[in-house]
Amino acid sequence: MNNLWIRPASNEDADIITELNDAAFGTPEEAQIVTQLAADGDSLASLVAHNDREILGHIQFFRVLIDQDDIACGLGPVSARPDVQGRGIGAGLIKFGLTLMEGAGRTHCFLLGHKDYYPRFGFSADLAAQFGGPWSGPHFMAKELNPNGPSTGQLTYPAAFGA
Ligand SMILES: CC(C)(COP(=O)(O)OP(=O)(O)OC[C@H]1O[C@@H](n2cnc3c(N)ncnc32)[C@H](O)[C@@H]1OP(=O)(O)O)[C@@H](O)C(=O)NCCC(=O)NCCS
Repeated sequence: MNNLWIRPASNEDADIITELNDAAFGTPEEAQIVTQLAADGDSLASLVAHNDREILGHIQFFRVLIDQDDIACGLGPVSARPDVQGRGIGAGLIKFGLTLMEGAGRTHCFLLGHKDYYPRFGFSADLAAQFGGPWSGPHFMAKELNPNGPSTGQLTYPAAFGA
């Protein structure tokens, strides 16, 4: 998509991000997770994609502990406004955000998501299966962001996930 930028979300964006997530997911749960992550201090990055006029997409990254070490991250939720899905907004947010997390030194990124979508960004269910966490199966995926991290371990998710 032309004229699309990505920037950190500000406090003033909170209502629009909630609207966007509610519209994209059709339920309020995802927006509630975004709000609670911020309130609990567990957010690592909340990014919005916007054009000249309005916000069209959002992505959330949050801290994930491996064996109680604050070294990894989680991705989600990610959303594109329903009327502009399928134009690369989600992919742009995911790639930009992963680069940010890699640069911040996070060892891995974990997510629970569509098993046909995330492998194109390097996510693997086999890698996630090496870690003990709140989820398992083909929808629970991981990507290594930096070498020298642990190859196995127990994951701790933020309280916002109720996990
Ligand atoms: C998933 C989502 C973030 C992708 O963003 P997007 O800007 O629409 O997607 P992009 O344009 O970057 O990529 C389009 C690709 O995503 C795929 N895709 C979109 N939604 C998908 C889904 N639910 N399952 C599998 N693939 C999906 C499309 O099939 C398309 O694949 P192709 O490139 O092979 O044709 C967006 O569609 C969305 O907000 N969906 C509703 C909320 C949601 O499900 N979020 C993700 C939770 S894991």
